[in-house]
Amino acid sequence: MTWHLPDAAATDALGAALAATRPPRAVVHLVGDLGAGKSTLARALLRALGVQGAIRSPTYTLVERYAVDGGEAWHLDLYRIGDPGEIDYLGLDADAVVLWLVEWPERGAGALPPPDLVVALDLGGTGRNAALTASSPVGDEWLGRLTAAFTPELFTAG
Ligand SMILES: Nc1ncnc2c1ncn2[C@@H]1O[C@H](COP(=O)(O)OP(=O)(O)OP(=O)(O)O)[C@@H](O)[C@H]1O
Ligand SMILES: [Mg+2]
Repeated sequence: MTWHLPDAAATDALGAALAATRPPRAVVHLVGDLGAGKSTLARALLRALGVQGAIRSPTYTLVERYAVDGGEAWHLDLYRIGDPGEIDYLGLDADAVVLWLVEWPERGAGALPPPDLVVALDLGGTGRNAALTASSPVGDEWLGRLTAAFTPELFTAG
């Protein structure tokens, strides 16, 4: 499933639609180059889940944690990680996590739970293209709900 997101507001709308249709527990990998819109999408999703106050990019902290319905949402950015083992050193209780949003997941290979949904963002004209791939039954069902909920006006393909 690929959507064209003509501007940042469209990325925000996709984040809100992901929030509105999210399963009780899910792991989302956000892939794409620097500036592709991964943090924009994560921030919109967290906002739509009711997170108030600043939503900082976890570029230096590796992880930012938020209380959401059902438990914690973790927003990770592994761009600056030296070794995937650093994730374990954070000493965090992954059992409490109901939503993982992971930027640069390829740098945490082996230390992350497998994704239910992979969102790949890349440049498309002055906007972005978002390709969403389910990689579990939970992700499959999520994509099904999302397809019904998210209907950007401009262009939908795939
Ligand atoms: N659909 C879109 N069209 C145009 N610009 C967008 C779109 N979505 C997000 N942007 C813009 O892209 C810029 C970079 O976004 P963002 O910081 O989310 O990227 P990122 O993928 O998280 O980068 P990094 O890898 O450095 O963390 C921001 O200025 C944001 O407003
Ligand atoms: Mg980012």
